[in-house]
Amino acid sequence: MNDLVAIARSFFAPGKGLLAADESVHTATARLASYGIPTSSEMRRQYRDLFLGTPGIEETLSGVILFEETLLQKGDDGESFPRSLTARGIAPGIKVDGGTEPFSSSPQEFITTGLLGLSERLLEYKKQGAVFTKWRAVIRIDGDQLPTAAAIHENAKRLAAYAKEAQAAGLVPILEPEVLLTGKHSRVRARTVIEETLTTLFSVLEEHSVDRASVIVKTAMALSGSESGKKDTPEEVAEDTVAALLKSVPRQIAGIVFLSGGQTPEEATENLAAIARHAHAAHAPWPLTFSYARALQEEALAQWKGKKENIGSARAAFQERLAKVSAAARGE
Ligand code: 13P
Repeated sequence: MNDLVAIARSFFAPGKGLLAADESVHTATARLASYGIPTSSEMRRQYRDLFLGTPGIEETLSGVILFEETLLQKGDDGESFPRSLTARGIAPGIKVDGGTEPFSSSPQEFITTGLLGLSERLLEYKKQGAVFTKWRAVIRIDGDQLPTAAAIHENAKRLAAYAKEAQAAGLVPILEPEVLLTGKHSRVRARTVIEETLTTLFSVLEEHSVDRASVIVKTAMALSGSESGKKDTPEEVAEDTVAALLKSVPRQIAGIVFLSGGQTPEEATENLAAIARHAHAAHAPWPLTFSYARALQEEALAQWKGKKENIGSARAAFQERLAKVSAAARGE
C-alpha cells in the first residue's frame, strides 16, 4: 500500500470522520452573519479556533478540511492550525477549487473553476502542512431538465484533472460532486442523479487513468428536494443512497464520505446511522463516514454568537454533536 492509500484509508478508522471547516471567505461571512456575528479575518480565525481548539476532537475526527486563509492562521495556543491538528493526530486538508461559475452551455448550471495554477498551489499547500485536498462540483436538479449530461461530464472532467494533479503532488484527493438538495424533486430522482453523476465520474476517472485506490468520494445522500414538502425516513434515505452507490462506485476506492447538505444536525445524524447499518447489511465494499460542515457546526454557532463567554457552552454543543455523529458512523 502506498502512502496516499494509507492516509486515505486512515480517515475511516471506526467512529472517525471529517469536519469540513473549509467555507470560503464569502460563505463564512454569510454563515456568521446568519448568527448575527460580524466578520473580519480575526473573527474568522476565532470561528475556526472555536472548533479546532475544542478538546478531545482527535477521538472522533481523523481529518479537517480547511480553507486557504485558515491554513496560514494560528489558534489561541499560538500554533498554526495545520500544525496543531497534526500534533493531535488529525490530518489537515485543504479545499483547492476556486468556486463555481455558470456553465456557458447551460447557464442555469454550474461548473467548478480552479485548475489554472493548481499544481503550484498544491505544492504550497503541502509545504504548509496539508496532506489531503477537496474539490467540490455542484449538480443541480430541476425536474427532468436538469442536470444536463454536458454539465455532469464537464464537472467530471475537471474533477479528474484535479485528482491527477493532487495525486502527482502527493496529496489525497476528495472528489465532491454535490447533488444539491434545493428543489422540488423526489428522493428517487435524487437517487437517479447521484447514480448518473458518479457513473460518469468513474468512467471519466478511468479515461484519465486516475489511481482509484487513494480516491475518496464525497457525496450527498438521496433525499427528497428541500421544496418537495416530503420528509424521508432514515430507512428510505439509506435504501436509496446505498442502492445508488452500489451501482456506481467501484470497490477499489479508499472510501465514501457524506456531506450534510442542508439537513438539520439530527437528520444528518439519523440518516448516517441508517446508511451505515444498511451498507453493512448489504456488504458494501467501501468504508463510509461523515464529512460534515453545517450539521456539525450549527448548534455550536447558535451558542457562540461570536462571544468569548460562550466558547465553553458552544464547544460542549460541538462535542455532543460530534459524539452522536461518530456513533452514527458506526451504525449506532
Ligand atoms: P455541508 O455538510 O454543510 O453540506 O458541507 C460539506 C461540504 O464540504 C460542502 O462542500
